[in-house]
Amino acid sequence: MKISVIGTGYLGATHAACLAELGHEVIGLDTDPLKIASLAAGELPFFEPGLAELLNRHVASGRLRFTTSYEEVGAWADVHFLGVGTPQRQGEGSADTAFVEAAVTSLAETITRDALIVGKSTVPVGTAQRLRELLVRHEDPSVRIGLAWNPEFLREGFAVQDTLRPDRIIVGVDDAAHAETVKAVYAAADELGIPFIVTDFETAELVKMAANAFLATKISFINAFSEITEAVGGDIRTLAEGLGLDERIGPKFLRAGLGFGGGCLPKDIRALQARASELGHERSMRFLSEVEGINLRRRERAVFLATSMLGELRGKRIAALGAAFKPDSDDVRDSPALDVAVRLFDAGADVAVYDPKANANASQRFPRLGYADSLADAVMGADLILVLTEWDEFKSLSPDMLGALTPARKIVDARNVLVAHQWTAAGWDFAALGRKHAPVFDHVPVDA
Ligand code: UGA
Repeated sequence: MKISVIGTGYLGATHAACLAELGHEVIGLDTDPLKIASLAAGELPFFEPGLAELLNRHVASGRLRFTTSYEEVGAWADVHFLGVGTPQRQGEGSADTAFVEAAVTSLAETITRDALIVGKSTVPVGTAQRLRELLVRHEDPSVRIGLAWNPEFLREGFAVQDTLRPDRIIVGVDDAAHAETVKAVYAAADELGIPFIVTDFETAELVKMAANAFLATKISFINAFSEITEAVGGDIRTLAEGLGLDERIGPKFLRAGLGFGGGCLPKDIRALQARASELGHERSMRFLSEVEGINLRRRERAVFLATSMLGELRGKRIAALGAAFKPDSDDVRDSPALDVAVRLFDAGADVAVYDPKANANASQRFPRLGYADSLADAVMGADLILVLTEWDEFKSLSPDMLGALTPARKIVDARNVLVAHQWTAAGWDFAALGRKHAPVFDHVPVDA
């Protein structure tokens, strides 16, 4: 099929490359000529495992092209996917759908053949219906433009895998024929037996919001118990394992630590609360403000642990290991790791941040922090080390190797990835979020 993808940010670039991998002819469109030039040259403006290879392969084969021209895609494609952003409005919790509206208007004005627009952006419930009306107002009567809503569930770090083999495909439509078109796009997924659910616009929009709200709630649930295990002296990792082995609960998204960040979960739970309020159902989503409160308290707790280990932060040298909001990503949007580093800096500490991939993005956002090019540079002579993002490089840290670089031997494991007794046995002052400093049992649960 001939497919366009409007918006070539994280979601759009991944979607475009994966559609080419599935055998379609694809054009990615963005209004930013610099982004388009770099993608057309096979260069990804962000880090995502496996995506650069896919991009290069399909740019080289000619199956994937890029443009800034709506006229070009409007005259050419059968299906137009919308992958533009819906950022949080300045000073408000609600999502700004202006980019989605602008993209649909531009498509409506330039499409010259029957086509289907398929929204993938995460939007407040009711947006698709509004876009449907917008389309009717702009539509040329000689062409038929359909609309479908097909929310995206990809995770950064697993974007290619999640796009090519999603857990499910949801499509919201007001005409069953449009669902068949979307099914044809994802014929390969159908062959793999991936569930394909057809529903109305509103349910499709809400499934996505509900999924992110549930994931955020699950993380804050385990982090709320961290506060209790910290108070009474239990081990949150073992508690999570004991909980997750109940098949009804499951082990995923029960990794206690510094909590959630990134461009999606925090923004989406705020947008959901804002939308519920608009609909007169503020109370239905009010629990999400507690979910966010618990999430932010984890950062305060990490700073508290650092302060209690050092006594006074002013003038102390602190190595902040990790800046990305999660491993295998260079994304620092709403990153708990970077937020903790900034809080320590603001309290007077001399902070050296080291992240295997996100230093550049972090230093752009917070140039006032210090940045180290290697782990060894960051920890050399540090009074305290904090593990803030669970990169493999940090999970495998050795207390003896590190101790040779930092005689102070103080560490906070804010992501619960280190084995406490190995550190205490090597003479380290060890603290973690949700675990005793020197636990009696230090059982390492299977990674979830
Ligand atoms: C999230 C969802 O997982 C995707 O399904 C969704 O498509 C995407 O948002 C989106 O809306 O676009 P992502 O933002 O890539 O994906 O990140 P997650 O893997 O969900 O992690 C979010 C945060 O939760 C990270 O900061 C991570 O460190 C934290 N987390 C995750 C925990 O603290 N504990 C866990 O057990 C799991």
